Amino acid sequence: MKFFVDTADINEIRDLAATGLLDGVTTNPSLVAKTGKNFLDLVAEICGVVKGPVSAEVAATDYETMLKEGRKISKIAKNIAVKVPLTPAGLKVCKALADDGIMVNVTLCFTPAQAILAAKAGAKFISPFVGRLDDISTDGMALIADIVQIYENYPDWNTEVLVASVRHPVHIVESAKMGAHVVTCPPDVIRKLYSHPLTDKGLVTFVEDWKKTGQSIL
Ligand code: G3P
Repeated sequence: MKFFVDTADINEIRDLAATGLLDGVTTNPSLVAKTGKNFLDLVAEICGVVKGPVSAEVAATDYETMLKEGRKISKIAKNIAVKVPLTPAGLKVCKALADDGIMVNVTLCFTPAQAILAAKAGAKFISPFVGRLDDISTDGMALIADIVQIYENYPDWNTEVLVASVRHPVHIVESAKMGAHVVTCPPDVIRKLYSHPLTDKGLVTFVEDWKKTGQSIL
């Protein structure tokens, strides 16, 4: 399973990249807006920090402008994945860019039917939003199970299931159990994966007991 971080905060990205566990980055217009930075410069900076795919989203909603934006974004770096919304125009852009060998991440997916369309349009990634479904009392993880099952039926589809709108570690564990290819998580959720009180407690005991031996390994 690949780990992407869902942020445009370059300091967070550098910090998580240093763990050696980060495989990519996803951004969206809301995350970019939070930074107050120039979009194209920021995305170029992120692409320099992380080797894996960096998703950067188009801003327009009509086909012609999205296509122009997508082509421009794709030239920022080799590891760019152009992010487009799951609309008829967005999927048309997806097909055009994918035909040119550009990675496309189709975002704002809320149904298995939409995920089928994205795969047929040649998307490299489909981004189903689990947290936002949970927020409206709908089972977000059931959507992941459906998409993984459907994609497994068609081995010639190369679209990876990128679980998005992740809110807590259980979303990540459930995604792994279902065989989703990628999870993109806010930085704090990735950090929560490390934590367990028994790990902390156990380490305190080991350190104290080691001191009693009076030894040094180095
Ligand atoms: O980037 C897409 C997605 O991960 C957004 O998450 O928390 O705004 O629903 P959220």
